[in-house]
Amino acid sequence: MAPELESVLARTRVLVCLGPGGAGKTTTAAALAVAGAISGRRVAVLTVDPAARLKDALELPEEPGRLHPIPLPEGARGRLDAIQLDAKGLFDRLVRRLSPTPALAERVLANPVYRNIAGAFAGSDAYMALEQLLDIVGDPAYELVIVDTPPATHALELFDAPERILALLNSRALEYLEEPARILGVGTSRLARGLLSAVLSGLERITGLPLLRHISALAADFGLVSPAFRTRAESIRALLRATDTAYAMVAAPDPHGADEILAFAGEVHRLGIDVSLVVVNRVLKLGQAASTSPGAPPPGEAREPLEWSATLARNLVACAHDVETLIAGERSVIDALKAGFAQLDGGPARHGSSERPWLELPAIFPAPTSLAGIWKLAQALQADLARSTDAA
Ligand SMILES: Nc1ncnc2c1ncn2[C@@H]1O[C@H](COP(=O)(O)OP(=O)(O)OP(=O)(O)O)[C@@H](O)[C@H]1O
Ligand SMILES: [Mg+2]
Repeated sequence: MAPELESVLARTRVLVCLGPGGAGKTTTAAALAVAGAISGRRVAVLTVDPAARLKDALELPEEPGRLHPIPLPEGARGRLDAIQLDAKGLFDRLVRRLSPTPALAERVLANPVYRNIAGAFAGSDAYMALEQLLDIVGDPAYELVIVDTPPATHALELFDAPERILALLNSRALEYLEEPARILGVGTSRLARGLLSAVLSGLERITGLPLLRHISALAADFGLVSPAFRTRAESIRALLRATDTAYAMVAAPDPHGADEILAFAGEVHRLGIDVSLVVVNRVLKLGQAASTSPGAPPPGEAREPLEWSATLARNLVACAHDVETLIAGERSVIDALKAGFAQLDGGPARHGSSERPWLELPAIFPAPTSLAGIWKLAQALQADLARSTDAA
């Protein structure tokens, strides 16, 4: 494995893959996990891909929310389990687990208002991923946990999620919901109370639910479960800032994407989070592309002699020229990214920035939508092919 990656993994328990949409967070999380397992670690990878691309690539069964063993290439010394986030199911399972009694859990789960509130909680895939992460981290079976983040997750959203949950649970919202008239305080006029109950019965008519009764019941019941949720939110907050939690920024060297990546990195920096590793994904590497093309002969075997016309030859030369231009373009995007990161770090010489590994994952063809593709990327990390060109 690239020694820089080895040294990051050696001091990391949780590695969170961040980055703009479509950069390759899900794929990179899987490749890093396979690489970690090949080098002997007991690894878990949590994927949050709603398009289920990684689930398909890792050949996970149709059963989100559970860890499944993933086959590894021959010679792998560790093991890998993968889990696909099941946000909605996870929230229900947490209510069951955290309720003081099973009857209470069932009452909460059956409450029609809960179904909507749970939808809102579970709708935050970022927070649910963190809840799931907390459980996996608590399992001593794993030495390294790699976490994918949902599409379009702003760093702020991820780090803010436990704060928002804590603010809600620490507020008096549940008390008020138990008895909405409390909102109006003690000295409120009869008119105001009358108005509030008119509003609530209007809502009941619109929703067709005995809303007030359901809300009060849920607030009373959930009040008994909420201390456990609060404790978990506090643990999640601590986990995000733990010294053995590291962050990898995944970036694609697209000509128009550099600003977006640097804006993302700036957001992370302002949150006081150190990016331990940058993975530039989908980098065009000619040797790599040729060796992974489906038409390439196995090593040692000669290619079939090609018949070609003058037109084909001319077109191929033009094409080769375009590929060179593309590669040069990607290199300048990567240079701009490095300069941008150095600026964020406070200058190229500052301690930390110069030590942060920059790895490059090759663009492979076909795209890594199968286990073989993920293995190929992991092997690139393994075989040290992933070291940034100018660092090698
Ligand atoms: N190294 C690579 N070579 C070729 N194709 C790749 C590579 N990495 C990722 N891809 C392809 O690019 C697409 C986006 O990758 P991926 O789903 O990992 O990105 P993502 O950052 O997780 O996206 P999202 O923000 O939607 O979650 C996928 O179709 C994937 O197969
Ligand atoms: Mg993804």
